[in-house]
Amino acid sequence: MATPNENVEPAAESTTAPGESTTAPGESTTSVDPATARAGYSRRRLIGTGVAGVGAGAVAGLVGGVVLGRTAPSPEIHPGANQRFAGKVVLITGATSGIGRAAALQYAAEGGQVGFCGRRENLGRDVERQIRAAGGEATYVRADVRDESQVRQFVDTVAERYGGLDVCFNNAGITVQKPLHEYTANEWDDVLATNLRGVFLALKFQIPHLRRRGGGAVLVTSSSNAISTSGGKAAYAASKRALVGLVQSAAHDYAAENIRINALLPGTTKTDFVRRLAGAADLPDVAWDVMAAQFGKSSVPGVGRLATAEEVAAFAVALTSGDFPYATGAQMVLDGGKTAYAG
Ligand SMILES: NC(=O)c1ccc[n+]([C@@H]2O[C@H](COP(=O)([O-])OP(=O)(O)OC[C@H]3O[C@@H](n4cnc5c(N)ncnc54)[C@H](OP(=O)(O)O)[C@@H]3O)[C@@H](O)[C@H]2O)c1
Repeated sequence: MATPNENVEPAAESTTAPGESTTAPGESTTSVDPATARAGYSRRRLIGTGVAGVGAGAVAGLVGGVVLGRTAPSPEIHPGANQRFAGKVVLITGATSGIGRAAALQYAAEGGQVGFCGRRENLGRDVERQIRAAGGEATYVRADVRDESQVRQFVDTVAERYGGLDVCFNNAGITVQKPLHEYTANEWDDVLATNLRGVFLALKFQIPHLRRRGGGAVLVTSSSNAISTSGGKAAYAASKRALVGLVQSAAHDYAAENIRINALLPGTTKTDFVRRLAGAADLPDVAWDVMAAQFGKSSVPGVGRLATAEEVAAFAVALTSGDFPYATGAQMVLDGGKTAYAG
């Protein structure tokens, strides 16, 4: 992998949660090994190619033996004047970290009652605690989006607890990156089961609740890779592009029932997902900051930086508010201009 983003060169990279099985309960075991996701290849490429020009040396020095936790520091909750989600119930898949986590905090800060899932229970409980400590309302439910019964239970638990559903942000996703012929069938299936089937299942169980409410807003996290991509990402790009088709068709299914369904296409965003791809999961935060800043400069012409989870979340929150009632079936790109550049 050359770059710590979704546009990575072929390498045996997986963003599957550390220590997590890549297999839904009851399914056969896959061979995806989270440890491979942190193979030194990416880091060596980044440092070796001078991408972290500030500091190949500095980074290498920092790397020396220092191992930090992989959890990003907690974003702050900034309760705004806006309370666009007061009285609304918001469900998010994949909010134990990254974009989903930032969105959970923002929805709660704007008055939403937030139910969210993810497999890493300790992180889920942290997010729940943080929101409640700030005076918001949130419930974490451990659920794996690959598993039909877990998704059903998650959706129904949130709807039951808060009396319905108004907004759904189907955001959980992973990647495994390598040349196409090197994927095992299980690796391929795992990416598609999480990114595509997981969204299908979530929507399948969300729609009846949204109908009962007389409408609602759904946002599905696709990726700028749905528009343009690069080698090593056959499974990821296929899944994210397929999501656009899913969203377009589903938007037609339910537009007359006042249910808006859109796709969010973020560009490279500075989250643990990208950090793992960069092989920087166990580097000190400061080293990762240097790598990410240099990569933003080299890979996003013009803007010259990666997106933050908080700004992608702010876009998601706005898109699912009542501010854009005419938007449905759309691909909402937030990529710093990445897909607009030819070179
Ligand atoms: N970062 C980027 O550059 C970028 C760009 C475009 C699109 N995206 C998309 O944005 C979404 C969020 O990614 P992120 O960057 O915020 O990375 P992240 O921090 O790794 O977040 C991924 C989230 O998905 C959850 N998840 C993964 N597999 C799951 C499963 N089987 N069941 C339930 N939850 C699962 C993870 O929770 P657990 O691990 O706890 O299960 C985590 O909460 C993904 O769909 C990703 O493809 C990211």
